[in-house]
Amino acid sequence: MNHERSAILFTRAKELVAGGVSSQIRINEPAETPLFFTHAKGSKMWDADGNEYIDYIQGMGPNLFGHAPDFINKQVNEDMEKGYVFAAQFEQELEVAEMVLDMIPMKDATIRFASSGTEIDQLLFRTMRGYTGRPKILKFEGHYHGWMDSVNWSVHPPLDQAGPEDAPVPVGESEGMDKGTAEGLVICQWNDVDLLEKAFNEHGSEIAGVIMEPVLANTNCIVPSTEFLDALQRLCKENSSLLAFDEVITGFRIARGGAQEYLGVTPDLATYAKSMAGGFPISMIAGRRDVMDLIGDGTVYHGGSFNSNVMSISATYASLKYIQGQGDAFYADLNGKGLRLMEGLRDVAKSLESDLHVQGIGSVFAISFTTKQEITNWRDHARNCDDAKYARFASEMLKHGVRLSSNGRIHLSSAHTDEDIEKTIAAAAAVLPNL
Ligand SMILES: Cc1ncc(COP(=O)(O)O)c(C=O)c1O
Repeated sequence: MNHERSAILFTRAKELVAGGVSSQIRINEPAETPLFFTHAKGSKMWDADGNEYIDYIQGMGPNLFGHAPDFINKQVNEDMEKGYVFAAQFEQELEVAEMVLDMIPMKDATIRFASSGTEIDQLLFRTMRGYTGRPKILKFEGHYHGWMDSVNWSVHPPLDQAGPEDAPVPVGESEGMDKGTAEGLVICQWNDVDLLEKAFNEHGSEIAGVIMEPVLANTNCIVPSTEFLDALQRLCKENSSLLAFDEVITGFRIARGGAQEYLGVTPDLATYAKSMAGGFPISMIAGRRDVMDLIGDGTVYHGGSFNSNVMSISATYASLKYIQGQGDAFYADLNGKGLRLMEGLRDVAKSLESDLHVQGIGSVFAISFTTKQEITNWRDHARNCDDAKYARFASEMLKHGVRLSSNGRIHLSSAHTDEDIEKTIAAAAAVLPNL
């Protein structure tokens, strides 16, 4: 597969854009050079050298209906004739608010819109501290909540820096971070009842709230144990700490009501972003009315010039209307496709005696290389998964026209076809024996 044109463009990019990319993860594209793309539609993308790929990155999740679905194009094209950024309210914003509140399980909730997942998680932390008057957020290793100093700690910490399992040391993910922000966090292992109890025993009265990815999409796409979910709810209640779900990936993707519906757990607050608008930038916090009232009356300050701009609200309106029109069939189909792909990859791995491992819930899942049956949290992944082998796998799959992310997370879209899935399984069968 020829990537000559991408290589030329990347050389030019490095002169103009720091590192040649606008988000650091893009440097890790599983090709010999980060690729340039000319266009994308549905499940497919085409690069600057004319190569076609079945895309499972799908914008890192937002493209729930595949790239550039006609129904969103149509709606946004029509609505943007009205203007782009009002810095004021408009009626469609309320229609979208009614739609989301109808879809998510939280009752008597209110919402606020912003533009990115990182941004809305910042509002979440501020709100939890503002409501409780407490200084700390309990955050788990392996979970990602955006790239800001306040929370970009211990996402995927190297184990030789991360301290003991029962007394983890916060590890910053970047140079230049304000070291003092680690003081605002309690770092804990996820999916481990004893260690969660220990963290609450030691810090309970200081913990404003717990933030977590309810299904751990940023590490092996892990579904937590029922025991852990029960303990989490009990400990939050006993300690008067708020429970928050970061549904930036799971929201509107894994079920109509996101992870809350999937797990049967309703948190006090939740944040959403990626899949709401089929690829347009928007995010949202939803939560208990009495907590959200602090944002409402300005006690907890929230601003943003691009919040609820016409294009993003319009795209969300089109997306949610589309999902509502299809009912539960939309998620049955989307998750069904992912489950078929997971099953097909499992079968190929078994027949080839490969340690390729899939874990997840269909519309989003993870590929890794491990002999373990199940990965349960970040340290389990770090100890037992061969990330270098996954990188080789992704790079070989690309040569067969299958675009996988560098972090192993697979996003299905409603545009993926049975033929895409079959081709992907066949590519894996061709690649695995030679890794
Ligand atoms: C669970 C989760 N929360 C927050 C974010 C940050 O979202 P954004 O990239 O829109 O800032 C991400 C991004 O991948 C995410 O996966």
